[in-house]
Amino acid sequence: MLIGATWHFPLANRSGREVIRLTPGMAFGTGTHATTKSCLILLEKWIGDEERGRLLDIGTGSGILAIAGAKLGAIDVTAVEVDPVALAVARGNARINGVASKIVFRETLPSRSRYRWVVANVTAPVLIELSGIVADRVGPGGTLILSGILATEWRGVFLRYRERFTLVRRIQRGEWITLLLEKRKK
Ligand SMILES: C[S@@+](CC[C@H](N)C(=O)[O-])C[C@H]1O[C@@H](n2cnc3c(N)ncnc32)[C@H](O)[C@@H]1O
Repeated sequence: MLIGATWHFPLANRSGREVIRLTPGMAFGTGTHATTKSCLILLEKWIGDEERGRLLDIGTGSGILAIAGAKLGAIDVTAVEVDPVALAVARGNARINGVASKIVFRETLPSRSRYRWVVANVTAPVLIELSGIVADRVGPGGTLILSGILATEWRGVFLRYRERFTLVRRIQRGEWITLLLEKRKK
């Protein structure tokens, strides 16, 4: 996955990888932050390699992970963002990248649907507070990526999910941790 600001296009891309054009505006998510990078790498590996499914992106910011998921082959994407300014930026970025029709943007978490992949790059307190509803949104055998967690916080976050999830990978970049969890089928 290559990320470039809209003003850097046309971008030299000899890798054959998917490209995202972004205007970050007032929203978090240019692709340079350690947490965003880790999430992108995991999405690229897991969505790229596996069967098709639906993606939920919690704390979409600029829309970067939702757009990546749509380009990598998710059937559809739901992107949640509490900040209305960021939400407007994310909608614009989805249009620029030609994936607006695949992404539904909203300010609140869906209360029913189940997703093959859920990615939440927010903060440890938010991941702890929302652990029940976030865990419910992942389908049986589904994948949950949790990020925005400091190295000192990851055990406390995992504690809230470990009853229903197995820890598959823990990535550390600098002081930031990203967890890849798999939901148990029963
Ligand atoms: C660290 S940024 C991540 C942005 C982008 N997903 C990325 O990976 O670069 C976290 C975003 O989550 C949003 N956020 C914080 N709490 C939230 C919540 N409870 N529900 C949805 N979005 C939330 C923030 O407004 C912010 O835009």
